[in-house]
Amino acid sequence: MKSFYITTAIDYANGSPHLGHAYEKVLTDVIARTNRLLGSQVKFVTGLDEHGQKVQQGAQSEGIEPLERCNRIAEEFQSMLLQLGISNDDYIRTTQERHKKVVSLLLQDLYDRGEIYQAEYQGFYSTRAEQFLQEKDKVDGKWPEIFGEVTEITEKNYFFKLGKYQGWLSKHLNETTGFIEPAHRQNQVLEFLKEPLNDLCISRPKERLSWGIPLPFDSEYVTYVWFDALVNYVSAAGFGDESFEKFWPADLHVIGKDILAPPHAVYWPIMLKACNLALPKQILAHGWWTVSGSKMSKSSGETVDPLGLAEKYGADAFRYFVMREMTVGNDAEFSAERFESRYRADLGNDLGNLVSRLLHMTAAYEQGIVPTVDLDEEPEKKIKEHWNSTKDFVLDCFSSFQFSQGLDKAFAFIRGINKYADERTPWKLAKSDEPEDRKALRTCLGTMIESLRLANTMLAPVMPSVHEKINDRLGLSPSVSWNDDLFWDHRLAEKKLGEKTILFPREV
Ligand code: ME8
Ligand code: MG
Repeated sequence: MKSFYITTAIDYANGSPHLGHAYEKVLTDVIARTNRLLGSQVKFVTGLDEHGQKVQQGAQSEGIEPLERCNRIAEEFQSMLLQLGISNDDYIRTTQERHKKVVSLLLQDLYDRGEIYQAEYQGFYSTRAEQFLQEKDKVDGKWPEIFGEVTEITEKNYFFKLGKYQGWLSKHLNETTGFIEPAHRQNQVLEFLKEPLNDLCISRPKERLSWGIPLPFDSEYVTYVWFDALVNYVSAAGFGDESFEKFWPADLHVIGKDILAPPHAVYWPIMLKACNLALPKQILAHGWWTVSGSKMSKSSGETVDPLGLAEKYGADAFRYFVMREMTVGNDAEFSAERFESRYRADLGNDLGNLVSRLLHMTAAYEQGIVPTVDLDEEPEKKIKEHWNSTKDFVLDCFSSFQFSQGLDKAFAFIRGINKYADERTPWKLAKSDEPEDRKALRTCLGTMIESLRLANTMLAPVMPSVHEKINDRLGLSPSVSWNDDLFWDHRLAEKKLGEKTILFPREV
């Protein structure tokens, strides 16, 4: 069985989850579920990034230990995952022994092989960004707002020889189409690599930052955030264990565009190369959710609480909305009106009504038994063709991260089922005793039920619990294989359907 190792960014333990975090987890979950349905053995990992200055300061200001604060935040993030139906197989926390052990092992090895050296550094430092700055970071001669207070400091630190791999990385990017998606981001990284690459400072003196993983070769220092955080992907794969061979290299890292270059597209490949580990196969950089035009973030204040929406409308409505609304890679503006409108139109009118009227009609006209289809006339031919083209298109979209387009097509098919019913008018046919009309009625219901079964199978990765509910009414367990369940085969003929149900109530 083919394995598929997929990860998200690990969230900073310095605030509560917001829409941006929720989106990334849903997106990754949809990809993970799709791959399971296509027959891969998936390992889906997400987690928490717990070290660093902001976490230490946050705990200080609350008068508690950093770990205590991290435990609380880990609980918040994990409960979000649960409430959004995220199917992660593991949750890695950078304070776990399994991770600290791997960071130490890799650092010691790099140090022993001369890939890490100590040097004196003098320069400008931003506490807020936890990074050293250069003159070129100034805008109009001033440090931009995002860096907060900037001070000049001199200190000894440890550096990783990033620069010497610059040529190698450019070559890799030039030769590996599709390493970064969307493609224009790969070009951006290549542009970035046209400037000389400085070595990477990977340490902080303990007196300035104690909340971190100690350097194995100098206990006066802790590891700087990226050398700690990025390694989570390798620790979670079980570096050093047998399972590591099975899952490494990762098939896909899903991250936001703000942490693509340099962290994931430059530091990470070079770190792996220096450690003699294989590179991930692909990195997917998604865009930002904005509110009133600016990025939603912990510091911007204006955040959307994903759990509030999921509680009010249901987790699957939330999942559908974010996947339908955002073109992967681009930014999207969040609006409560858009949410409401997608909920009412796509989910309530198109899908919800189809399910409830179909169950109602089958119960009323056929004692809830799925009729065998006898006719194969123009309307049936048309809807079957519509399904086949929908299936191919949606599968293509889902394998190239075009979920919004795919869902658009899937819902066009769902509206197509409703249109088919309007053409056949089963509610009129049901009033007639003519054998031809009975035949047409039975054909119509049978065709609609088969169409709904197929459409619902396609929605499984995006709306897993709605999928399960609909399948339950159809007398089916949740789909486990797209390789088996996407064919038009009337497998439900003569089976009994369940009771009518309201999937998306009007009053929420
Ligand atoms: O960056 N819209 O953590 P983080 C979409 N710990 N995505 C957003 C977003 C928004 N408004 N705001 C944040 C970190 N994200 C590091 C990662 S990985 C080894 C370490 C995304 O909590 C962001 O792009 O700031 C990132 O992928 C994820 O949420 C976590 O962000
Ligand atoms: Mg961030």
